[in-house]
Amino acid sequence: MTLELFDEADAARDRLAGRLAAGLNRLVDVDLLLKKLLIHARSLVKAEAGTVYLVRRGRLVFAISQNDYLEKAVGIGQDLPFLGENLRIDRGTLAGFVAIEQRPLTVNDTDRIDPDSPFQHYKRLDHVNSYVCRAIATLPLKASGGETLGVLQLINPQTVSGLSTEFSPGGERALAFFADSAALALEKALMLRKTTLLTIRAVTASDPTETAAHAQRVARLSAEIYDHWANGRKTPVVERERVLNLLPVAAMMHDIGKCFISREVLGKPGRLNLIERKAMEGHVAVGAAMFSIPRTYLDRLALNVILDHHERWDGLGYPGRLGLSDYDASGRAKGKKGEEISIFGRILAVADVYDALSSRRIYKEAFDESLAVQIMEQESGHHFDPEVIESFMAVRQVLGKIRQRFPETGANEDDEPSPGELGQDYDWRDRGPTQPPDLEAPAEDEP
Ligand SMILES: [Fe+2]
Repeated sequence: MTLELFDEADAARDRLAGRLAAGLNRLVDVDLLLKKLLIHARSLVKAEAGTVYLVRRGRLVFAISQNDYLEKAVGIGQDLPFLGENLRIDRGTLAGFVAIEQRPLTVNDTDRIDPDSPFQHYKRLDHVNSYVCRAIATLPLKASGGETLGVLQLINPQTVSGLSTEFSPGGERALAFFADSAALALEKALMLRKTTLLTIRAVTASDPTETAAHAQRVARLSAEIYDHWANGRKTPVVERERVLNLLPVAAMMHDIGKCFISREVLGKPGRLNLIERKAMEGHVAVGAAMFSIPRTYLDRLALNVILDHHERWDGLGYPGRLGLSDYDASGRAKGKKGEEISIFGRILAVADVYDALSSRRIYKEAFDESLAVQIMEQESGHHFDPEVIESFMAVRQVLGKIRQRFPETGANEDDEPSPGELGQDYDWRDRGPTQPPDLEAPAEDEP
């Protein structure tokens, strides 16, 4: 009877793992997918903490970490101290071992790893964070071509009543099944991001102001602003998640029409004459034409973003109400104003202008954050929707983090940030003597 109940529970967990992994397939935004992937994996084994590492430029980078215990300590919504760090891929760490061997590995008591084992659990980070990683399940995330995309790590499983426990064989099996399917969803999202960024490079080739880093910063800031705005409006969760999944992809394409504007106009350092300015403004209509027959929600988002991101709240933007024969005496299409402009265009306008102000351009140095934010605030109700500016101000703590993640350097032209861009070039075992003096063992760590 006990055995039957056990099998039933395991079978139910396997089915849940299948459903959760299938749900990841509809996600295209890498950040959102990683967040959900880790939440789902943790829920399968009730893990107190977990991490997803991604392989980037030959290292394992902490792409996302969740830790119920530490999040209480550092504050909900704050980054965990090791986020963005990275480590060498070798067999010496659990994550490195699994990345190379490509098979799951479970350690139910990190104090009892055989000293002759090639991998060890390095406890330095445990000491630094006052958190003990006692039981760790580590699984490879393998791409369809067989290579390791990343590593999934679940830490400290708990019973229903919140007591520490070990990983059960059933839990390990469900995790392995989940990780195999989730890896394919991750591969698809990474591939879409790469394709989008390659397309953007067609623009960056002729326009020095449009970098892949700019596109990604605008995308991430747009998502943050939208999330706050939608939260304030009590937008249903399903709708919010649909937009949060697709808006970053659409936002990256906001200036895609520039690939049809001449290099002379795009790269001209001085003021544009009237003809040149009209040609430049044409990037909106040209880009929108690429999505003029929207088939999907993403197409519609992209169309809104492209068409409306240079409109202004006060009606002085462009391209105006194209195709509606609503022109002024000089033959210029009358501008959309206020809520005639789609919310996605209003959000993009804020994200795009802020990023331009805080970036170096041919004609100006980068404004520091406080000056750029001040200018944005002054334009509330003029250039920008006041409600969107409210949301922008509410999320301003992420501005520095976004710029740090996608810096304006040559290296960021790669879609995968280098280790140095995301954090220190880091190896747990190389770190200096930060171990508290009352601890004995040579301090090393692994989260
Ligand atoms: Fe633009």
